[in-house]
This record gives sequence, structure tokens and C-alpha cells, in this order.
Amino acid sequence: MSRSLWHRVAAPALLLALAALAAGCGVKKANTIRIGEFASLTGDTATFGISTRNGIELAAQEINAAGGVLGKQVEVLVEDNRSQTTEAATAVTRLINQYGVVAVLGEVASSRSLAGAPICQRNRIPMITPASTNPAVTQVGDYIFRICFIDPFQGTVMARFAFNTLKARKVAVLFDKSQDYSTGLADFFREEFERLGGKITTESSYSSVSGDIDFKAQLTGIRAKAPDAVFVPGYYNQVGMIAKQSREIGITVPLLGGDGWDSPKLVEIGGKALEGDYFSNHYSVENKSPHVQAFITKYRRAYGDAPDAMAALGYDSARILCDAIRRAGSTEAQAIRDAIAQTSGFEGVTGTITLNAERNAVKPAVVLQVKDGRFRYVETVQP
Ligand code: PHE
Repeated sequence: MSRSLWHRVAAPALLLALAALAAGCGVKKANTIRIGEFASLTGDTATFGISTRNGIELAAQEINAAGGVLGKQVEVLVEDNRSQTTEAATAVTRLINQYGVVAVLGEVASSRSLAGAPICQRNRIPMITPASTNPAVTQVGDYIFRICFIDPFQGTVMARFAFNTLKARKVAVLFDKSQDYSTGLADFFREEFERLGGKITTESSYSSVSGDIDFKAQLTGIRAKAPDAVFVPGYYNQVGMIAKQSREIGITVPLLGGDGWDSPKLVEIGGKALEGDYFSNHYSVENKSPHVQAFITKYRRAYGDAPDAMAALGYDSARILCDAIRRAGSTEAQAIRDAIAQTSGFEGVTGTITLNAERNAVKPAVVLQVKDGRFRYVETVQP
């Protein structure tokens, strides 16, 4: 090739190609530590993924601004799974095999964490779920951790709240049979509510995966038994519709739920129908601790809205992972795994986080009430 041709055509083309590669995910930036996140950035539970990603991104920015980890900048690669279980597995495989991440953060929905966890375990890549509460998730293996409480606790919190605080004696349960989170939480709630001496009047279900949007048949059956409350351990999209339809057919008793309700979209969908209802959660924006308020201010400045529980848990999960890498003194997977397992007394914005032998966090829950379209703090329940 003549010199001039090289200068005019080939060299610029090569530079362009290199720049395109570097901009994509295939090429690792020099001197970075790669962390993967699989998240529902789109689809049925998109706010779960968006909030978690925002929280993780904010943590990574702060850590990088303070000099990074082990002298390197942290790079977070996010893969969207469109709120689908099979896509979650594909996303995790890509993060590990194509992008070479040293650890994985995610998912929020337990069914999707359960799809990703076996892949992390098989590849010996540590995974921390910020928000999945079904007990089975961390039982997948010794590389799988969570920094939130689990559903046997959450179910107990809401059963006791119904029985002791609301004085409910008869409760109907309406759960999402296509989500491990929902089926598990329905079971744990029932167990504790019956143990206390309460009665479950009806147990009916729907499927978010099948796209159910009409819940009138189930709600009519529930109304016929005149319960004191209805426990709806689902995700916000369906819960919003269920609240509306239950008021439409004349159910006036409170609806109760779990962390799956937490989304800025809940009230957008359910509107006034949700007023007075209660759900358990990981965190409240009304928490007065200066540490939590500082986080809320920073988050608002970055994203415009107050952080929900997923944003807060995402933030904590990224900080815990980076702290573990720092303590490990290495990006070698087993060293990171061992350091995560040692996490103790970590001051998160969702509480003090210590991981137990089952790789779960033992933390308090809060009960929130929907009032004037906002989530108001009611009480904190210790584990
Ligand atoms: N705990 C839910 C699950 O396991 C996910 C979730 C967490 C949703 C926090 C909202 C807030 O599927």
C-alpha cells in the first residue's frame, strides 16, 4: 500500500473501527474492574431495573471519584433482560463469557435471580442480589449472596401486622402464580397468619407472565367471603390494577402487600383505589438518619426523583461488592467471594448489613401506608 493511501483511507478506517470497538462492551477499558448487572430496564417491572441501575451507577461514580478500588476505576456493564426469566439467564451468560465481569449484581425479581444464579455458581463468579427475597435464591450455592431480608420474615411481618395491628381475623390471599416471589410470600404469610389463629378465606391466583389484566373473577370470589383484608403479594403493575378492580366491585377492606409494590408506577396505575393500603418494604424515604438523607439528596440531584427501595438496595449492593474487592485485595473470584461472605456491620442506606452463614442479610423491615398517593412510614419491625 502506498503511504498516501494508508494515510487517507486505511489508517482513518482502522482508527474508526478501534474506536467503535472500544465504545462497545467487547473491549475492556485499560485499568478497570468490570462488574456486571442484569436488570429489567424494560418490560413489566421496568422500574425495578431502572432504579437498581441508578443506585448502582451512583455508588460506582462516588467510588471512582474517590479513587476507585485497588487503584482501578470500576466499570459497570448493565444487561437488560426485559423483565423475562429466560432473558435473565442469557444476560448473565453474556456478562460472564463475553464481558469477563469479576462479579454480578442482580436481579430484583426472585424468579430472574433464580435463573441467573446457577450460571454464576457454575462459573464460580460471585453474585449479589440487592433485592430478591425468596429463600431459594441464595440456596443455589456458595457464590450467591443477598443484602436484603428474606420472605419468611417479610411474610411474618405482614401476617402479624394484619392480626395484631389491624385486628384482622379473616384474610383472602391473591397471588401471582408465575413468580417465585409471590407464591413464596403467600405461603409464608398464610403459615404465620394461621399460626396466630387467623383464617384464610380464599386463596386465588393470576399470572403476570401470561399478561393477566382482568382480576374480576378472583375478586368476586374474594368478596363473597367478606374478609377483613386482602393480601396481594405481587408486583406493582398487577397490584395497581387489582386495587382498582377490587374497589370497582365493592371491596372496601384494606389491601396488604410486600416489597413488590414499591414503584413510582404503583400509584400511577392504582390511583385513589390504593389509599389506606399497607405494604412491607426495605427502606423508607422518611428515615431521618443523616446518612440516609444524604443519600436521598445525592440521588435526587442525579436522577430527579427520590430513591425507592430498589435504588437504595442497588446502591448498597455495589458499595458492599466494592468494599469486598478492596478487602480481598484482588479481583480473583474466589477471593471476592470469601470477602463478600465476611461482610459484617456494613452501614448501608437500607440498614446495617451483616451476612449470615446462609449468605443472607438479617435486617429490619418497614411497614408503609399509601396516603395521598405517597408511601408514609408506619413502623419498623426488627427480625
Ligand atoms: N423482593 C422481590 C422479589 O424477590 C423484589 C423486590 C424487592 C421488589 C424490592 C421491590 C422492592 O422478587
